Amino acid sequence: MEASVSIRLNPFKGSDGPDGAAVPWNPHGRILSERPNFTLDPLFHAGCYYVQDSSAMYVGYLFRKLVPGMDGGCGAASPQKGSRPLRVLDLCAAPGGKTTDIATSLREIMGDSFELTANEVIKNRASVLADNVAVWGDPAVTVTSVDPAVIGRRMCGYYDVIVADVPCSGEGMFRKDPRAEKEWSPKLVELCAARQKRILADAWPALKEGGILIYSTCTYEDAENDANLEWAAEELGGEIIPPENEFESRGVRLTRSGNLLKAGEVPGEGQWAGALRKTASAPVSKACRFEDLNPFVSRMQVFDEKTPRVELDLQQALKYLHRDSLYLPDAPLGMLAVCYRSHPLGFVKNLGPRCNNLYPKGRRILMDV
Ligand SMILES: C[S@@+](CC[C@H](N)C(=O)[O-])C[C@H]1O[C@@H](n2cnc3c(N)ncnc32)[C@H](O)[C@@H]1O
Repeated sequence: MEASVSIRLNPFKGSDGPDGAAVPWNPHGRILSERPNFTLDPLFHAGCYYVQDSSAMYVGYLFRKLVPGMDGGCGAASPQKGSRPLRVLDLCAAPGGKTTDIATSLREIMGDSFELTANEVIKNRASVLADNVAVWGDPAVTVTSVDPAVIGRRMCGYYDVIVADVPCSGEGMFRKDPRAEKEWSPKLVELCAARQKRILADAWPALKEGGILIYSTCTYEDAENDANLEWAAEELGGEIIPPENEFESRGVRLTRSGNLLKAGEVPGEGQWAGALRKTASAPVSKACRFEDLNPFVSRMQVFDEKTPRVELDLQQALKYLHRDSLYLPDAPLGMLAVCYRSHPLGFVKNLGPRCNNLYPKGRRILMDV
């Protein structure tokens, strides 16, 4: 099986985007027959879809399966009825594939009743995450950039669910990233396994008693996968949620404590995912304040009803995304939201002879258009 290209459509933006074969474990996933030039598709920049490997979408599947209120969720992590929104932490979130997937599931099932913290410790990666989250457009997602230990210390017992998609030795990426293969060694596996334990132990106090940890990697190494989740259950206090295999016929394997997707056996790349329920007590600290994580100011552009909208054709939309100035003689003067296929891309200020382009500088496309 050759490496495939896949996307996940955004149902809150009309599921407008390239079509393809269904991803068995994600209702919005599509496997494309060829790789389009995403940079030159305004729908990509409008957040209508996210380019994500189909195997990586398996983590979102597990999330929907286990989290209360979602398909068959086991309910253990749910807050008291009517009390407060479900609190979810995506601990290692950049560039945002799992975050945007989880945000969609939460909004589909919970409406406004959730808060999702997307954290990425490496600052420049957190900035990419913040942009991707903003473009996806869910207001309940907040981006932070702190060490897992800070979350563990400051957010005692706060979260109902933690997703930890940890850095790993990356065997599942060899086909896509030849560098990962060059860098791989048994020593690297050892280092990664130790770092993953540290990340889990550091963030652990932030998970409430009864809360769910979803743990995933893109490697095939037992030491980084089953063995580490089992270590967490044993040492930190949890019980493994027994894995099932609804997708055996689609190439998904069952391992001791999770599921393994191997490149060549499934359409996408490698992924392992498993889950546990926390049994250890986690007293909620009174001093626990979300603001203490210094969340990023949201970069989401809000397109209200008052700002007139102007439809652009493909060439105009690409010029806009390139930050060229536009000439829109038939449009009203002043602030305008410019759209492609009715999806807002950003703002311009129409001065008459030209429009000032207010597209965020950091998101400008660099290719010739
Ligand atoms: C597998 S990637 C996450 C991919 C992401 N979940 C997605 O779906 O787009 C692992 C992330 O962990 C971050 N990371 C690296 N070292 C870390 C550490 N010590 N603690 C927490 N996160 C770390 C990396 O910067 C990287 O963004």
